[in-house]
Amino acid sequence: MIRIPSFAKVNLGLEVLRLRDDGYHELRTLFQAVDLKDTIELTLTRKPAVEVACDHPLVPTDGRNLAVRAAQELRRFGRVAGGVRMRLEKRIPVGGGLGGGSSNAAAVLLALDRLWGLGLGTTGLLPLARRLGADVPYFLFGGTALGVSRGDEIYPLAGEIRAHLVLVAPEVPVSTAAVFRRLDAGLTPRENGHSIYRFISSDLEGRPQYGALTNDLEEAALEEAPVLRDQVTTIRRLLVREGALLAALSGSGSTYFGLFTSGPRAARAGAALRKRGFRATCARTVSLSSYRQAFRRALAAGGQNPRGRGR
Ligand code: C5P
Repeated sequence: MIRIPSFAKVNLGLEVLRLRDDGYHELRTLFQAVDLKDTIELTLTRKPAVEVACDHPLVPTDGRNLAVRAAQELRRFGRVAGGVRMRLEKRIPVGGGLGGGSSNAAAVLLALDRLWGLGLGTTGLLPLARRLGADVPYFLFGGTALGVSRGDEIYPLAGEIRAHLVLVAPEVPVSTAAVFRRLDAGLTPRENGHSIYRFISSDLEGRPQYGALTNDLEEAALEEAPVLRDQVTTIRRLLVREGALLAALSGSGSTYFGLFTSGPRAARAGAALRKRGFRATCARTVSLSSYRQAFRRALAAGGQNPRGRGR
């Protein structure tokens, strides 16, 4: 049995360029891993089945769960004889734009590739990850990364953003598909956005230009969930008052986050928001190397079982 971490992400910026022929949208987004995490326990079984249990009542345990689908697809792809039993400890808010389900799926792919001795590695897992969802490929890498195409073509950045975050999860569910549909009504197709390129060409380890970043989904998300608008106004005001360098919606929401260079300021902002009744969590950014190391360490503790492979 091994236990692996499954980190959350925020989108520091997100540009929507146009609707594609496949119904998805052409994006430019900047992903950042954060240390708020779920934990996944995996036990290999002789029984040829994928089973999951979860401590969160809203998380499905059948094929709607991306971690289950990830394990099933990899098992089929690798012609694995045995199965796996998983236990998910959910700490990442569900349906909040923090990529919890996608992160779980990528973590399961990375872990089972090793435990089943398949040797696919990140590159070999990418096509499977893409089929599972647009955010899944990013979580094979972590750290700070540029996502283009559907957000599933990933370019990890060498520069490391060290920051504290306050993640505020209003309990308002927002459907990603509905937000994109709403955006389409007013979308003027364009070849490129410039905010993310301006940001990543600034000095990421010195003075990043957070002011350049935007999230094109924010207005559509607030139209889709009007109760969110009042909450966001308050959240934003408190975050900025405490010195947030960036205050933005993550993905299609509904999590709103503030980014700080000072830990004590982030803690103060978190406390002020909790006092107003908001669910606010403090977190830190996770670099590309720490992300990789966290998996390596967890997987090294579990070893590998080549006998699980093949029929
Ligand atoms: O790929 P995933 O299932 O996570 O995407 C959820 C929904 O978000 C899609 O069904 C689609 O409506 C929308 N989406 C999009 N363009 C993208 C990514 C997601 O339209 N690049």
